[in-house]
Amino acid sequence: MSESFPLGLTFDDVLLVPRRSGVSTRRQVETRARLCRGIELAIPVVSASMDSVTESRMAIAMAREGGIGIIHRFLPIGEHVAEVRRVKRAESVVLDSPHTAGPESTVRQAAAFMEEHGPASVLVIDRDRRLLGIVTARDLLFEEDLDRPITAIMTPRERLITAPAGTPVEEAKQILHRHRIEKLPLVDAQGRLAGLVTSRDILSRLKHPQATKDARGRLRVGAAIGVRGDFLERAQALVDAEVDVLVIDIAHGHSDLSFRTIDAVRARCGDVPLIAGNVATPEGTRDLIARGVDGIKVGVGPGSTCTTRVVTGAGVPQLTAILSCAEAAAPSGIPVIADGGIRGSGDLVKALAAGAETAMLGNLLAGTEESPGTSITRNGRQYKVYRGMASLWTSAERRDLRQEDELLSEIVPEGIEALVPYRGPVSAVLGQLVGGLRSGMSYCGATTLADLHQHAQFVRVTDAGVREGMPHDVDAPP
Ligand code: XMP
Repeated sequence: MSESFPLGLTFDDVLLVPRRSGVSTRRQVETRARLCRGIELAIPVVSASMDSVTESRMAIAMAREGGIGIIHRFLPIGEHVAEVRRVKRAESVVLDSPHTAGPESTVRQAAAFMEEHGPASVLVIDRDRRLLGIVTARDLLFEEDLDRPITAIMTPRERLITAPAGTPVEEAKQILHRHRIEKLPLVDAQGRLAGLVTSRDILSRLKHPQATKDARGRLRVGAAIGVRGDFLERAQALVDAEVDVLVIDIAHGHSDLSFRTIDAVRARCGDVPLIAGNVATPEGTRDLIARGVDGIKVGVGPGSTCTTRVVTGAGVPQLTAILSCAEAAAPSGIPVIADGGIRGSGDLVKALAAGAETAMLGNLLAGTEESPGTSITRNGRQYKVYRGMASLWTSAERRDLRQEDELLSEIVPEGIEALVPYRGPVSAVLGQLVGGLRSGMSYCGATTLADLHQHAQFVRVTDAGVREGMPHDVDAPP
């Protein structure tokens, strides 16, 4: 082995050299990026597939802002699928299959259903799907006789405003406005339920023009899968629920297990967009691309809760990993996702300048209102729990290994549990982050992310340079 090792750099080792800029307002800067083959985002951010970061609430918030969320895999398959469905139903111009109930259902059943699934209304239909009426949350308010049939409290068909199937959204909007109603069921010529348009969905569409949506106007969402146990069944169930992208989520993606998983998912689920990782080398990147994946996730050990490098001695500092993987991926046109270690907008700009098209964030989003993490108040300050996934990765692996009748005598966790400050809603965090990104791009003279990558010049800095870049020689205000 040679003693002249290559140098590995990370975000703090470099700065971006300011370049001549023609940008006069940050609005001129375009942050559109590709997550993977076939999926574009208005802002280049992805929420991490961790159980204290991304479930449906986070994924909905991320997609509304123009990013995307990847729902973690440490849920039974049924719940994982339900999380994906929640995102796909959260808003769409026309709900093709709104929640329905038969005329024999009771008020109690309708209330329980709304409580569990969260819809604000249930459409009552007969066996042939003919629309009989609608029950809204308001109809249930103060209803004391829970055993009454819902037909007794619904607004019946003859008093309902409906529109024909296929009514254009603009026209539906006019009808909602004209009749001062919030829900407009669509029915076909035989009176069968064909869909539902709601004022809430139309308003949300106006409020979030950049939202990440599929061809049918539904929010996009990704889901993680592993490489052992029920991964194939899970992948199939997620694809059946119309997940937009699957992410093979393992610590060491440059492995035979990972290749086998890619082949098996491709054979079973066809050409669903598939992201694989994590890798930190050009060889890893090329091998995964040769296997036919649509996106590459880069990062071995940079995560804020991650102790992989301490425990195993393995990893590549993240800036070098991104630079080398993005260069290796470039000829194929497959985008790279920078996963882990991003502490603020400065790191995000550096990661994208190094060639990543998007970045996956755990820590920065774990403290938001929409993360599933537990809230804690300590000394009058609010925090949320954020934990590394290694303990779950290993316990899931351990279960599967037992099933396979192998014994793994020692499993050492490679992650920690921590508290992160409460940061308010996702929209506020992303607003700051994208504002910083746009400014950073204009410092580099770039108006698009492709420009940024092409024109960025890095300069290496010393410890003294890092200290100079922090607030210094000032005291905190009294
Ligand atoms: P940040 O820095 O945003 O990183 O918190 C999020 C990413 O960290 C990875 N991750 C882990 N890596 N042990 C690891 O080696 C862990 O326990 C662990 N948990 C999360 C993951 O890639 C995530 O997206």
